[in-house]
Amino acid sequence: MNQQYDYLVIGSGIAGMSFALKVAGHNGARVALLCKSTLDEANTALAQGGVASVTNLLVDDFDKHIHDTMVAGDYLSDPEAVEKVVKGAPEQIRALLEWGVDFDRNSDGEFDLHREGGHSEFRILHHADNTGYEIQQSLIRAVRENPYIDVLEHKFAVELITQHHLGKVVTHRTPDIACYGAYVLDTETGEVDTYQGRVTVLATGGVGAVYLTTTNPLIATGDGIAMVHRAKGVIKDMEFIQFHPTALYHPGDRPSFLITEAMRGYGAVLRNLKGEEFMHKYDPRLSLAPRDIVARAIDSEMKLNGDDHVYLDVTHKDPEETKRHFPNIYQHCLEIGIDITKDYIPVAPAAHYLCGGIKVDGNGESTIHRLYALGECSCTGLHGGNRLASNSLIEAVVYADAAAKHAEETLSRYSFRNDIPDWNDDGTRHPEEMVLITQSLKEVNQIMGYYVGIVRSNLRLDRAWNRLDILYRETERLFKNSKVSRDICELRNVIDVGYLIMRQAKERKESRGLHYSVDYPPQPAK
Ligand code: FAD
Ligand code: SIN
Repeated sequence: MNQQYDYLVIGSGIAGMSFALKVAGHNGARVALLCKSTLDEANTALAQGGVASVTNLLVDDFDKHIHDTMVAGDYLSDPEAVEKVVKGAPEQIRALLEWGVDFDRNSDGEFDLHREGGHSEFRILHHADNTGYEIQQSLIRAVRENPYIDVLEHKFAVELITQHHLGKVVTHRTPDIACYGAYVLDTETGEVDTYQGRVTVLATGGVGAVYLTTTNPLIATGDGIAMVHRAKGVIKDMEFIQFHPTALYHPGDRPSFLITEAMRGYGAVLRNLKGEEFMHKYDPRLSLAPRDIVARAIDSEMKLNGDDHVYLDVTHKDPEETKRHFPNIYQHCLEIGIDITKDYIPVAPAAHYLCGGIKVDGNGESTIHRLYALGECSCTGLHGGNRLASNSLIEAVVYADAAAKHAEETLSRYSFRNDIPDWNDDGTRHPEEMVLITQSLKEVNQIMGYYVGIVRSNLRLDRAWNRLDILYRETERLFKNSKVSRDICELRNVIDVGYLIMRQAKERKESRGLHYSVDYPPQPAK
């Protein structure tokens, strides 16, 4: 089957859906919105804290938000990207409101703003402690009502289609690589179809599932990044993996349930298992220091004491107020026997967010023509070495808007092709032992957790590299001989992403932002 759409959008989180809503129907444009699972299974749906945007102009301004973003990013952020997102945020908040997102307000009707680590002001718009669910559901409603958007669930994008598929040799040096669409597996029928887009948009989210302990849903296998890497596009800043300091420690849970940073903004304090506060040993901003510092402090405290978690304590706050601010967390913890108004919450860091990804310009366009990348799979330069809390949802909508405007201008230049071959699986068969795939995935997760985690070293990276290489060779052999399936594609992508994280971590000969190596101790501030 060969499908043709003006816009082929792969991914149905905030990035993919907001782009689709912006372009659908303009000059009759038709959009295919694909996702590999159901529409609601996305990182977006799990976001808790909220969306950062300068709102209270009596105390806050763009310069403060820009400064906070630069500081969190360890001055590796691209100042143009930072300014674009910070200044573009209020307009995109209005777009979210128009799509039906309901942000909490106080009794005066003003937005109820939260504050999170690294923010100098209260500027986080939120919907209680389940902002992402509110956004995801509102966008799903808007997308479903739009007659120009075809929603296609259980469609797994396997490969981007470029000149490579037309028989040309494509390398990283090939100029003018172009994307014509993607080969897409229908995970319900097992068929691989050709989807052409005059423009293709990757909004495939993050890579948390590369790690064993993660807050991300298990769809976060970095598929878009791996596809672009294989298509010879540029991938950047992969060493900057953000570990959230406070995921609920509840062994066996995958993903780990998040205890929002907003809880520390509200006054919760970290304690070790002896009940002692410890953040004063690490940073004067205590529990509200940027995430990388808090995650490393917890990691260090756990290693010093031989513990596998620490505690977050909110018991000194008014119980009713706590329940009102964090109803979702209160309920979730209660279900496993923890009353957060009376008990300390066991927490430990977990892989949470990828700051790097597919390199894009100010229009969200990747280094491959006709291909945009938006949201967590992209690297706009906003986050630099470390993302400031609640800056990712807003980045996704600001860049979706820029990409929509740019793509609308360029769309008429591109036409469909009639020389794209069908997916060829001659000579392949179903793998005899699926367990080999699941076992390899577990091995990747362990390698990444043990050797490419919060604290790294050259030795650990080398060891990880050698072990991953064995899995890479085995998996490529298996992939070539197998009928394509979601499991084997995800394994291949996870290995590819793991390789990119390691390679770029090895290339960075300093400790900076989220990349911390014992071989390159951080330089004291001048
Ligand atoms: P996602 O929402 O992850 O969507 C990815 C989509 O891509 C899915 O639809 C998936 O099916 C699809 N997909 C992936 N691969 C394929 C494929 N091969 N074929 C077809 N479809 C595919 N950020 C904030 O700013 N504020 C917060 O408060 C906040 N809290 C968070 C809490 C948690 C627990 C987590 C995990 C993240 C949080 N973040 C937060 C980060 C933020 O939620 C994400 O960065 C953001 O939602 C990513 O949106 P996205 O649209 O790029 O991707
Ligand atoms: C949180 O609520 O702590 C997550 C916020 C974020 O990841 O931006």
